[in-house]
Amino acid sequence: MVDVSEIQETVEFERGRPDIYGAAHPKALLRAIQEDGDYLKDLSNQHVITIDQFEPITLLQLFRLAAKYESNPDRFTSPLQGKILISAFYEPSTRTRLSFESAWHRLGGDIMSITDRSTTGIAKGESLADVGEMFNNYCDCVVLRDNKEESLHQMMDTLRVPIINAGNGIDEHPTQALADMYTIFKWRPDLMASEVPEYERINVGVIGVPGRMRTVRSLLKVFTKFSSAFKKITIIHDENETDIFSPGQREELEDAGIDVNVVTSLEEVICQLDVVYINAIAWVGDSFESHGSKFHLHKDLPFKENAIVMHPLARGEELDTNLDETHHNWYFAQARGAVFLRMALLTCMVQRTSRVMDVI
Ligand code: CP
Repeated sequence: MVDVSEIQETVEFERGRPDIYGAAHPKALLRAIQEDGDYLKDLSNQHVITIDQFEPITLLQLFRLAAKYESNPDRFTSPLQGKILISAFYEPSTRTRLSFESAWHRLGGDIMSITDRSTTGIAKGESLADVGEMFNNYCDCVVLRDNKEESLHQMMDTLRVPIINAGNGIDEHPTQALADMYTIFKWRPDLMASEVPEYERINVGVIGVPGRMRTVRSLLKVFTKFSSAFKKITIIHDENETDIFSPGQREELEDAGIDVNVVTSLEEVICQLDVVYINAIAWVGDSFESHGSKFHLHKDLPFKENAIVMHPLARGEELDTNLDETHHNWYFAQARGAVFLRMALLTCMVQRTSRVMDVI
């Protein structure tokens, strides 16, 4: 693994703060990493399937490009002009579909959107491999959300343009995890250092069932890429839930050197947590499962003074709206930042980084 200190400046790390609109300011992150677009070439024309495929140093450069976009939203005119995206979402989505489409539009590209597979030849029995073969003729990049884990792989058999996994069943949602990590680094750019001092490392509480939730599954994978940032990861689950982890999931964290704690009482741990990440829904088949609905985050809980709350959204009763006006609310910043993270990723994948790297 490349030593990330190679790309660190010796700057005094600043801590990010959300502004009044819940927008975590990206400039501290931007100043904390030196420019080196070469690592971004790793993403050119690559499918994005799982967090496993990324090197930490590539991710840091990706976050830097995202922060550049977020810091200077009006400075980048149309690097994706002439490029076409197919946005295929066969499962409900507010944030992922619209933020990908917003990202592509902001970069000057054109979009074709499919929101119902029954409007395509799939309804007539057409194979996904044949659909993939057709997509090669129509677009430069595909974003796919599908409730079936395997659909992505069936299309990849014939696709020669890159595809992004925007959620495949309960397997993974890699760009959500990238947006989550980008949020954490905007809050605490010092956590990007290759060796974070023990006393600066963070305790993260994840309320949910990692084995059933694709957002959490990808989140835990991205944590292993930056293990020095974490003192401990605590999984908080309903005592009625069994099989919290899928096979190998806990071991993956521990092998990366991260301490893992599993509890059923939020009260027991909340006052120790720097980041509280909550998700209560897992989309399975044509419906959703609710996990951990007994947990309810609200402003009167004994949070640490500077704790942040994250949620991939959509929210249910587990996340009280009375947290929205508090400084613990980083979930809106998380959703907002995902647009810039996706702008950065798309730019790299369709090989247009040369059009933005010199602009600051
Ligand atoms: N975070 C997320 O995946 O939200 P959507 O389901 O609205 O895309």
